[in-house]
Amino acid sequence: MSTCVRVALAWACLLGCGDSASSPEDESARDAAIGGQGRDASAKDAAPGAAPNGDDGGGAGGSRSDGGDPPASDSGANEDECAATAAGALHELLSCTGLYADIEDKRIAPGVREFAPAVQLWSDGADKQRWIFLPEDTQIDSALSDDWKFPIGTKLFKEFSHAGRRIETRLFWKVAATRWLRTAYRWNETETEAVRFDGGDIDVAGDTYHIPTAKECDQCHKGRDDRVLGFEPGLLGLSGATGLTLSELVAEGLLTEDPALTALEIGDDGTTKAAAALGWLHVNCGVSCHNTNSAAEGYASRLHLQLSAEELDGRTSSAFPALESGVGVSARTLRWTGRIRIVPGSPEQSLLYELANTRDPSRPKDQMPPIASRITDPDGLRALEDWISSMPATAPSVEPQ
Ligand code: HEC
Repeated sequence: MSTCVRVALAWACLLGCGDSASSPEDESARDAAIGGQGRDASAKDAAPGAAPNGDDGGGAGGSRSDGGDPPASDSGANEDECAATAAGALHELLSCTGLYADIEDKRIAPGVREFAPAVQLWSDGADKQRWIFLPEDTQIDSALSDDWKFPIGTKLFKEFSHAGRRIETRLFWKVAATRWLRTAYRWNETETEAVRFDGGDIDVAGDTYHIPTAKECDQCHKGRDDRVLGFEPGLLGLSGATGLTLSELVAEGLLTEDPALTALEIGDDGTTKAAAALGWLHVNCGVSCHNTNSAAEGYASRLHLQLSAEELDGRTSSAFPALESGVGVSARTLRWTGRIRIVPGSPEQSLLYELANTRDPSRPKDQMPPIASRITDPDGLRALEDWISSMPATAPSVEPQ
């Protein structure tokens, strides 16, 4: 079958393939976003015009934000620090970013909206909360359903907690048409403030916790042209999404084009188990790396695990790209010669399942995803196992070697 030849540098490519394809950004600038030098809690050295840049939009636009920022914290203590940062540059303190009206009370600023995608990226069991700020009187350009374009000034936040304690809050901030700044803020012990952190391992209650570097943010987030991975129609339209969902976006007139449906559904493929597995593969592997965007790290694999929102109307999933490029299809990477990505009926023989079920820091290329996880996802693995086990083992799709 033709899909069998659409092979797979696949998984191994995630770490090593580099950026053969063009990206709207200049990767040479990527390390600047989380910073190249150590920082303390002061932002007073952030001279106007010398602002730390994140992604470089290839010279497009300046670092001006015309989006109309949400008001900075009114908790008082940091007003000088907030004001000292050049307009359109990353603040050193989370309290200056506009997420909170009062960071000590954890009061979210007006205009900042909480959301949660229906299916979430596994982050080794961390609890996560997410928010979006869209500048007043703007809309998301939703003409391309799998590639929404956000208005300049958009900010997205994602907070990570471990055992009930806030650890870090990440920010993506669109400052020009093709330019996003991104960083992480590390919370202090008393959870009264969080300060920009360049990324790296930290100790959390005796465990090692990794805050991604800017380069690591990009490894995942460059998989979509406008960077945003979870605030997308599929994940906001499937059941389980909360806060600012797809139907809420339509009701509030926040999209330039309304989708045909706002209550989405992943159809079955005859196994009765496809929806959970495909949803998991979509958010854990597809939105970031294994998709058709030529900038995505897993693009060269031609293993396409991203679901298209337009196909989530309950129709059968048996012809979805994830099945066509996964089931019975060989991996081409040398280290996996002879391995089939998904062997119907046999999770244990399926390379995809094996990599999702492996965590070994000494062999990062033998685990999936290759970064940002040291613990396997029990629910995700169960969904994959149930799905693959339920496929008829006699399926004729296994490619002969
Ligand atoms: C392993 C891949 C990966 C890495 C590394 C990563 N992210 Fe993400 N991020 C995702 C995925 C997938 C989502 C959407 C799913 C979810 O939130 O559960 C997401 C969601 C987000 C969101 C919410 C908006 C959105 O895109 O849905 C923010 C903000 C964010 N990430 C910021 C960052 C920043 C800043 C960094 C680096 C410090 C980073 N992320 C590193 C994969 C990653």
